[in-house]
Amino acid sequence: MGGLYLVGMGVRGKGWMEINAYSSNERLILRYAAPLFIFDTPYDTLSELLMPFSKLGLSSPLVQAITELGYKTPTPIQEQAIPAILSGKDLIATAQTGTGKTAAFVLPLLEQFSKAAEPLRGKRIRALILVPTRELAVQVEASVAQYAKHTQLTSMAAYGGVDTAPQKERLIEGVDILVATPGRLLDLAHQRALHFDELQVMVLDEADRMVDMGFVDDIHKIIVRLPENRQNLLFTATMTNDVRAIAHAFSDSKMTDMAANISITPHVRAAATIKQWLITVDKDTKSALLSHLITEQAWDQALIFVEKKHSAAKLVAQLEKRGIQADSIHGGRSQAMREKVLDQFKSGELKYLVATGVAARGLDIGELSRVVNYDLPFQPEEYIHRIGRTGRAGASGEAISLVDISDFKNLCAIERRLKNTIERKEVEGFPVKKAVPASNLNHVKKSSR
Ligand SMILES: Nc1ncnc2c1ncn2[C@@H]1O[C@H](COP(=O)(O)OP(=O)(O)OP(=O)(O)O)[C@@H](O)[C@H]1O
Ligand SMILES: [Mg+2]
Repeated sequence: MGGLYLVGMGVRGKGWMEINAYSSNERLILRYAAPLFIFDTPYDTLSELLMPFSKLGLSSPLVQAITELGYKTPTPIQEQAIPAILSGKDLIATAQTGTGKTAAFVLPLLEQFSKAAEPLRGKRIRALILVPTRELAVQVEASVAQYAKHTQLTSMAAYGGVDTAPQKERLIEGVDILVATPGRLLDLAHQRALHFDELQVMVLDEADRMVDMGFVDDIHKIIVRLPENRQNLLFTATMTNDVRAIAHAFSDSKMTDMAANISITPHVRAAATIKQWLITVDKDTKSALLSHLITEQAWDQALIFVEKKHSAAKLVAQLEKRGIQADSIHGGRSQAMREKVLDQFKSGELKYLVATGVAARGLDIGELSRVVNYDLPFQPEEYIHRIGRTGRAGASGEAISLVDISDFKNLCAIERRLKNTIERKEVEGFPVKKAVPASNLNHVKKSSR
């Protein structure tokens, strides 16, 4: 193989690994998230050098499905987690937002189950994937179905806010992989619509968010129902004490003592593909500033985060008053509306979506170019997840935070976690009366002195 040079960051890319042959000298550019590698190697040689998914132990029906989806080579977390899961290990895995964690746990499950000799009995499942929000349940199940397309394996999503009857009916024949939110799962189990005695694998996606949302008791209630002899997998973009606590709860320290730890991002960092900046503003001019940015900069799309349900509705009204059509998704809306609005946003029909934290985790919105923190989140992890809705799968994106003086404490916490200050920009016509001071990154908490 010829020379390998790391030539730069932040190149706008579309796919994980997009290979372009330079016609002049047959050089190849390989985009792997943000870094750009140049291999001085002819195209054919290079494409042979890319690790095929089959090398990770995946068989042809799965490789065919992911090839059809345009995946050329595994992402780093997939490369490490897939063989570990296939070997039956428990796993705690962290990797940045948008780096393919879903496939990292779903593909090996499908591989294992496609070889199962025993047919599935009624009301039984082989794997349970627990997720914190309904939208994420829908999305993860859709991914499972895509990856399982050329197998006989079945999947379904079980989540609240919709009728239980169709979910119960679907479970009668059993499903190989069930993706569920904790509350509805317990409901179904209480109603004896579902039994866990054949469960082999339990996956927690976004475990810390489930803790934040108060699902800890539910998770404990679920765990005691599961067979002790099972494989436990835990995936997240941010490793926090909450995640560690959940890992402990899995089963008498079995998980934490014996699990393999795979960490692609040892320190909590935002995905490198996202350009972050902030604008300081006064509270009373915030919505005018947002409208100004949308119109003046002709934004194609934006996912705009607010802290509370009622501020979502208020902001939508304020934008609409200025001729900008927006809609919202939050816990106060019906599930049918939440799904409809999210679908419209995913398809590009809706350009500006105002959301609360329900949309912060895991959602994979095609080519979303921009996330706005209209309100700054209280938790630094939440910031990392929110902005991670853009800059996914190697594409670039921008994250803009509107910060007023009351956000100063949160800003300090976020910047300290990022180990960096976020670049500030000024917008003409929006002078700030109450300036936001620069945060002190070296601040040491009293307790840790
Ligand atoms: N090997 C691959 N090659 C190309 N694209 C991929 C590959 N693996 C996953 N993707 C795509 O990358 C996107 C992000 O994947 P996914 O949603 O699993 O990320 P994630 O790591 O779970 O992020 P988050 O932390 O935000 O939940 C998806 O659109 C998925 O289809
Ligand atoms: Mg995810």
